[in-house]
Amino acid sequence: MNTVKTTRRLTKDASGLTEAGEILRAGGLLAFPTETVYGLGADATNGMAVAGIYKAKGRPSFNPLIVHVSSLAEAQALARFNDEALVLAKAFWPGPLTLVAPRLPECPVSELALAGLDSIAIRIPASPDARAVLVAAGRPIAAPSANRSGRVSPTTAEHVLEDLDGLIDGIVIGEQAEIGVESTIVACLDWKTVMLRPGGVSRAAIEQVLGHRLDDAPEAQDAGDAPRAPGMLLSHYAPRAMVRLNATDLRPGEAGLLFGPSGLTGSEYAAVTLNLSPTGDVVEAAAHLFDALRTLDASGAPSIAVAPIPESGLGEAINDRLRRAAAPRE
Ligand code: TXA
Ligand code: MG
Repeated sequence: MNTVKTTRRLTKDASGLTEAGEILRAGGLLAFPTETVYGLGADATNGMAVAGIYKAKGRPSFNPLIVHVSSLAEAQALARFNDEALVLAKAFWPGPLTLVAPRLPECPVSELALAGLDSIAIRIPASPDARAVLVAAGRPIAAPSANRSGRVSPTTAEHVLEDLDGLIDGIVIGEQAEIGVESTIVACLDWKTVMLRPGGVSRAAIEQVLGHRLDDAPEAQDAGDAPRAPGMLLSHYAPRAMVRLNATDLRPGEAGLLFGPSGLTGSEYAAVTLNLSPTGDVVEAAAHLFDALRTLDASGAPSIAVAPIPESGLGEAINDRLRRAAAPRE
């Protein structure tokens, strides 16, 4: 069992941020808002602190973590950026893009955070609260989403506390995450630039900056450089309810997750329905996705029926998360 801690609720004013920095430098666990989802941060250079993340999340320890920094110079002290990595960093940082690049020999990040890989995943978040936490900490911060492993990612401070109150040292209370799905992960390795996870920056936006198509990582793991995002377990983001995708109608007692102006037939018999975006806007839908899944799950309905959502723009990341929520559980 995890030891019960008092989880400090910190405001994002100067005194709260000072305490946030102290918690992180002392090897503690701190949840903080970012524009994608809330992160669970620890000093990336402190193996014991990083171990605490895996323990609090109940996460399989083979998942490497994203390391968060506040400037490109700090990122370049950790990894070797090739031309395409630099182009992407300049176009999308700060923002919801994570770049995977070969780590430098002098990279001080703990082996545990890297899960023994030769590459490192780095992100500069855009959220001013997240940047303030990183500056207060003054060192690279490893941070997965601040939920128990396998649960829906948190987009509000309340979501984080539902999962982790008493298991972490503190939380910086901020606004609801603006984007609502995790960062897009792109690996810039010497032989190729590939997408490992769809997320808050659309594939089309990345392809436009690169000037060429962006392939997905090959299914087979290459020996040595593990180009796939190893954390992409199929059954992930799992609500307790069953999830039924591309529903064209609602069955009696089901919860309904709708999209766009046209409802689903059978809505009058549903336990509860929520519309991710009545106007059919995928950006708005991404922002509401995880909160809607939590709310529908809390209704106690045995199954959540989800209306079809287009694949365009952030629709790709939304559908990726929904497919994982619907996958058979291990
Ligand atoms: O938006 C986000 O990215 C959020 C916020 C908190 O920044 N973080 C997040 O972290 O989603 P997490 O731990 O839930 O997802 C990290 C992903 C995993 O799929 C992991 O396998 C992958 O990044 N990853 C980390 N290092 C990698 C590496 N060297 N090579 C390939 N994939 C890597
Ligand atoms: Mg996660």
